[in-house]
Formats: sequence, C-alpha cells, structure tokens
Amino acid sequence: MRRHEVVVVGAGLAGQRAALAAVEAGREVAIVSKLHPLRSHSGAAQGGINAAVGAEDSVDTHIYDTVKGSDYLGDQDAIEFFCREAGPTVVEMEHFGTIFSRAPDGSLARRAFGGAGFPRTIYAADRTGLALLQGLWERLGTERFTLYQEWDVTDVVVRDGRVQGLLALDRRRGEFEEIAAKAVVLATGPAGRIYGRTTNAHSCTGDGLAVAYSAGAFLKDMEFVQFHPTALLETSILITEGARGEGGYLRNASGDRFMAKYAPHVLELASRDVVSRAIVTEVQEGRGFSGPYGGYVHLELMHLGQEKVESRLQEICDYCRHFAGIDPVTQPIPVYPAQHYMMGGVGTNSRGETNLPGLYSAGEAACVSIHGANRLGGNSLLETLVFGKQAGVAAAEYAATAPAPAMHATDLEEGTAAFRAWSSRTDGEDPSAIRNEMQQTMDRYVGIYRNEADLLEGLKRIRVLKQRYAKVRVVDQSRVFNLNLIDAIETGHMLDLAEVIVVGAYARTESRGAHYRTDYPKRDDAKWMRHTLAKRTPEGPNLSYAPVGYTRWEPKERVY
Ligand code: FUM
Repeated sequence: MRRHEVVVVGAGLAGQRAALAAVEAGREVAIVSKLHPLRSHSGAAQGGINAAVGAEDSVDTHIYDTVKGSDYLGDQDAIEFFCREAGPTVVEMEHFGTIFSRAPDGSLARRAFGGAGFPRTIYAADRTGLALLQGLWERLGTERFTLYQEWDVTDVVVRDGRVQGLLALDRRRGEFEEIAAKAVVLATGPAGRIYGRTTNAHSCTGDGLAVAYSAGAFLKDMEFVQFHPTALLETSILITEGARGEGGYLRNASGDRFMAKYAPHVLELASRDVVSRAIVTEVQEGRGFSGPYGGYVHLELMHLGQEKVESRLQEICDYCRHFAGIDPVTQPIPVYPAQHYMMGGVGTNSRGETNLPGLYSAGEAACVSIHGANRLGGNSLLETLVFGKQAGVAAAEYAATAPAPAMHATDLEEGTAAFRAWSSRTDGEDPSAIRNEMQQTMDRYVGIYRNEADLLEGLKRIRVLKQRYAKVRVVDQSRVFNLNLIDAIETGHMLDLAEVIVVGAYARTESRGAHYRTDYPKRDDAKWMRHTLAKRTPEGPNLSYAPVGYTRWEPKERVY
C-alpha cells in the first residue's frame, strides 16, 4: 500500500498551492491528478485575478464589491480575509515567475471586470490562469513531492471519525490502488460537465465533491450555479469578461446596447448573473439573433481597434477565428450564456477544514463561502491561491500530529466491487447515454431561469437516470486508459451532484444571485439569508441550513 502524510487531489492552482504550503511546512506530500498538472482547468482561466493594489483602489472596496456581488450570501469574515490576502498573493505569484501584463509606466496592468467598483483585475493578456499555473509549477518543483499523474480518485476512506486515505484508479495500468494518508486535500476544481452547455473542460466532473459527499462531508450552497454571459455560440468556449472590460459592447438583433435597460450605471460590466439573465431575456423576448445553435446576441470588439484586440485578447482572436470562422477585429462575436462556475462545493472554513477530521478542500471544489450566490469574475483565480495555501497549511499542521492512517485490507476490495460488477455485466446501461441525458436535463430544467414545475421535472429525470445508472455496464474490457470505465465513474459522480443542485434549488423559494426563481422573483432575507448544507443519505440529499457570517455590511438591494 502507498502511504503519504498529506495527499492533495487535483493539480490545478489550488492543489499545487496546497501542496507547496504542505511541503514548505515540512510534510511529505503526494499529488493525485487525472491530468498533467499544466493541463488542469485553472489554465483555461482567461481574464485575470483581482487584487486592490495601487493608491486609487482599496481593499475595503474589493470587500464591498465581493459582498454585494454575492447578493449578501458570502461570509463577510471570510471575504475580508480573502481580499486582504489578494495583494500579497499577486506579488508572491510574480516572485514565483508569473509574467503579468504591464501598464505603460511598468506597473501591473489592470482591467475592469463585472461588478467591480474599480478596474482591479490584474492579467496576463487573456491567458492569466496558464501564466499563474506555469509560475507555480516551477516554484513547486517536481522533486519535492510524489506525483500520481492520470490517476482518478474514486473514494475517500473515513474510519474512526477521521480520514485514513483514498482509493484511486491509475488510468495507465487500469489498476485501483489504496493510498493511505493522514490528511487529504480535495482540490479537484469544477463540476461544470453536469451541464451540456458549459465553458468547462471535459475533465471537470466534480470528482472531489462527489467523493467528499459520499464520505459524509457536507456540500454547501450547490444550487448556486454561475452562467458566464459570453460563451462562444455552438462550442461554449469562454469569451473572457476581459473583452467587455476592455470596452466590448453587447448588442441585440436591433443593434441596441440592451444592457442599458438592465444595468443603467455599468451596462456590460454588471455582475455575471445580471448580464446572463439580460441576454436570455433578450433572446426569449425575440430581440436576439437566431440560428441552428439557438438564439444569441453579439459581442462587439470592432470599435476597439486591431492593435488592442489582438494584443489584449490574443486567445479570443484565435478561438473566434478557429472555432467560429469569424474575425473579432472586424466582425461581431455570437455569444450566449453557458455554465461556468459552481459557487457551491465542499463546505469548508477559511482554513479549508471540512466537517470530517483530516479532510480539506480548496478552490472551486470548495465552498468557504466567499462567493455566496454569485461570484465576481477575477475572484476565482485568487480563491485558488489564497485558500489553496490555507488548506495546505492546515492539512500539514493536522498531519504533523495525526496518528498513522489505518486502511483495512478490505477497503480496496469493498470500494471497487461496483466497478468489477459493471465490467462483468452482459447487459446494462451505457454511461455516456446517461451522461448526455443528465446534461440535457440540467440545461433544460435547472438553468438560468428556474421554477417549481421545471425543477420538479428535472429532479424526476435525474432520479430516473440514477436508477438507470444502478445498472450501468462497462463494455470495454481493456485495462489501459479504459475511457468507458472512467466515463462510468465520472457519470456517477455527476449524477449525485446534479441531484444535490436540483434539490437545493427546489427548496430555495427565493431569487438571489445566480439562483433566479421566476415563481419567487424577490430575495427573501428573512427566510433565506442562510447557507444550504446537503448531507448524503440513502434516500438522497438531506438539507439543513447554516447562518451567514456578518461583519460590516447590511444587506441592501443590489443595483448595478
Ligand atoms: O471571463 C473570464 O475571463 C473569467 C474569469 C473568471 O471566471 O474569473
């Protein structure tokens, strides 16, 4: 059996930052990742990382913007900590080797982002995530930890009230293995592939959330799903908010800059929930364009000029030219909202601690909560680094005194019995068909605008899919890179999470941030100023609620 002191699952920014903190605290560390670390989804983050640096901006404004952006569901104590760490975090990343874009005077260049009272998003053209990932990877240094690359986590083992390790599949050999660990940090990133229309990579299947939930951890605020307003039509490739930050306009089919109606003060730079709803409303009310991939609006960059568009939005130019056959320098970009981020995740405090001793989480997999009901663009990259470090420090402290993990000889046998059953079936369900139907269900019934009838229908369909999943069959009998098996494992993870999202959304009879109920269009602070906690039971998620942390900001109406 393999043994480590601290095992980090996920090798994106949060996972690498946690590993670095644990290594620097003197612990022996391993990283388990389904991808090469530099292919992690953090590398897809385009527009930038928020930090109030420079005399004109202030940490307090960043805190206020984040609290307001969260529609007052974010924990204000955690948000204060988060925003204060922002400046030092960006400077540290620069010292680690991240090459940020520069203003003409040599200072860090900053651009405007939605919901921000000041242009505080620091960037590396439109490849900020990749630039951060490369800097951190170099700093971490491959010789300081063990890397299980192209390994999928399938279980967290909990016994005697604490974590003992995990089970994982080595894709290359097709073998399941036990990895004993005193502390496990789940930093597996997004779960966006629960939806069909998403900016998330195919790898974003919420594995960390699912194994934490199965192990008895709480999932928090899962009903809050962020839709990015500007995904490229057809492929849903992200067109960064930086495009609007650089001055891009949204126009409907009549040529109107329609955001003036929905956010008269800041137009295209309202928060993402507001802009996404505006686009969907324009299309639903017949003012959008229509085509074989559905309705859409235009994002125009033409007025910015070739030099600005090609230098600040290099990737966007490439994506538009290669995937849509259009040139954003001279043509409008067809866009429509797509799932982008989960505000919810494994419930943690600011140290990444969950309700299970020895289990930690950070990054998009976790919910601290700093984003509440709606995350501001540019706060996600910051979250990975700030809370990745905290989780690594906390896991290292815990592992320094925790007893040796006690995995049992039967853990592997029992934890993988289902997988063997899937492969020995001669008849059964195709996991990819179930996955497709789950994605269509979530797109159709659990999207930007929600109501009781749709959510009930969505829940019914997800539960039917779960019943079908109980008879899932893996046809491919090969061991090496068995994608049929991996598909089956990931689909099971996502079905569990989809059920939690729908159950939470059905229960929350109000509209707040990204959760918009057409049958309950108002925010209801008296009843719903509270976090949703979901615990797994054999009958499905059991919901309970927890108070929101306050410091200084009284809830008020959110207007942009
Ligand atoms: O639009 C973007 O570049 C996305 C940034 C984010 O999600 O923080």
